Amino acid sequence: MNIRITSQRIIMHQYIKEIGQYEGKQATLKGWVANIRESKTNIFVVLRDGTGFMQCVIGLDDVGEEQFEAAKRLSLESSLALTGNVIKDERQMGGYELQATSLEVYGYAKDYPIKVNENEHGVRHLADRRHLWLRSKRQWAIMRVRNEIKMGIHEFFQDRGFMQMDAPIFTGNACEGTTTLFATDFFGQEAYLSQSGQLYGEAMVMAQGLIYTFGPTFRAEKSDTPRHLSEFWMIEPEMAFYDNEMNMDLIEQFIKHVINRVLEKCKVELEALGRDVEALAKVNQEFPRVSYEDSVKILRGEMEVNGKNAIAVQEADLAAAKQGIEDNLKDIAERETAIKAGMKKGARKFNEAKIAALRKEIAVMEEQVRNIPKWIESAKNFKDGEDFGGSDETVLTRVFDAPVMVYNWPTKIKAFYMKEVEGDPAHVKGVDLLAPEGYGEIVGGSERETDIEILLKKIKEHELPMEEFEWYLDLRRFGSVPHAGFGLGLERIVRWCCDLDHLRETIPFPRRYGRLLP
Ligand code: 4AD
Ligand code: MG
Repeated sequence: MNIRITSQRIIMHQYIKEIGQYEGKQATLKGWVANIRESKTNIFVVLRDGTGFMQCVIGLDDVGEEQFEAAKRLSLESSLALTGNVIKDERQMGGYELQATSLEVYGYAKDYPIKVNENEHGVRHLADRRHLWLRSKRQWAIMRVRNEIKMGIHEFFQDRGFMQMDAPIFTGNACEGTTTLFATDFFGQEAYLSQSGQLYGEAMVMAQGLIYTFGPTFRAEKSDTPRHLSEFWMIEPEMAFYDNEMNMDLIEQFIKHVINRVLEKCKVELEALGRDVEALAKVNQEFPRVSYEDSVKILRGEMEVNGKNAIAVQEADLAAAKQGIEDNLKDIAERETAIKAGMKKGARKFNEAKIAALRKEIAVMEEQVRNIPKWIESAKNFKDGEDFGGSDETVLTRVFDAPVMVYNWPTKIKAFYMKEVEGDPAHVKGVDLLAPEGYGEIVGGSERETDIEILLKKIKEHELPMEEFEWYLDLRRFGSVPHAGFGLGLERIVRWCCDLDHLRETIPFPRRYGRLLP
């Protein structure tokens, strides 16, 4: 057989995900080398094809000398087609192995810059090579979870009669306040990249009754944090004739639906990510609903939740992190001593990888030891009426297992469109959903103000240009109805589902403060 670097020939091939159907038969797989090791007469390739990962064995006796020589030149991320017999082997990932009888190389990959264990690289090294990093098993798994979440979102709303609408990206007005706008030049007129499709959703809901947007949104805050992107995807349902109670009911059903779909459909991916699925399944508990006022008391440690005091829980976490660092250091020292004493190559590699993972854990725990005392200070001294910072959300949610809904927020820290609580203009009917495990706000929503006089007053107070809101005010002039809605940050829920340190891994090509390439 002729070995060509690039083949023009199209041959039928199979996908790893469906390889079980070919047990005992011949199959052709096409993909990339995700891992490789060789002995004198065998080359073991872990092939990845986008649908999964599978061990393939290329034996000298099976493929002949010429092809074996070609296979010897393979390295990480070389691309090839492999034809062979599919054998059941419980020890292998996926339960099958391919014993190759022939191969064809598409492209060699010399000195691929990302190691199999991506933990061995710093974050910047990986982020600079995002176009390649996407191929790693972790990133592969995250992107598939993201895809499944999107499917779950559409399924939930479409099954309930919501119509998907596309809101414009160029906008003439600020929805969430003027401080986080990206200005652009729209034929000589100042335009902004949309912060939210909500106002347009409110217009459409008066035509359709139930709608949701699903599109990119932009925030220009210079926040280099794990929770902020400059470009992110938001899902914004809007419902006519809904109050904030119904809004909260919908949020709860919606989040449960999406997470359960991921738990059901992404078992392989969640396992690849090492996700604690039991923790995630706690989403099936009832979501506690706590007023802003009570949540302030819980945060300061003045009110307990099921016998748990938020400050005491932080102190316990701090002690556990300190102990964890000590334990890991001891474990590392023991492994290093054993390596020095001499061990086989396989065992050494295994221990080196383990040490790298332990070091990564230490870095996380060291971060906790640095942060928790600050978090405790901030929580204890939290001033009533202010917005929660990221750490306050972490401290607050740590006493709950399920996501928590915080409702009735101080008027002065929320957007102009939120409806005032009857008889209490200092509070608005807003709701934030805070995810457990420290992931913080994933949903923000509210019942919308219907009183045009109050809206006029608020637009002035927020120093928003009145003429640009005229069209929005028409929605109150012509058949105004009670309505409510919310926004889910797609990347925030991906992060929580996958248990990631940072939003940078939740989107194919992140755009955030300090990062525009690749
Ligand atoms: O709370 P926010 O700002 O609410 C709105 O935009 C409303 N218009 C939504 C509505 O009622 N229709 O944003 C909603 C969600 C947040 O809860 C968060 O999940 C996400 O959008 N989000 C961000 N995600 C990543 N990076 C950022 N900079 C984000 N800002 C908000
Ligand atoms: Mg918000």
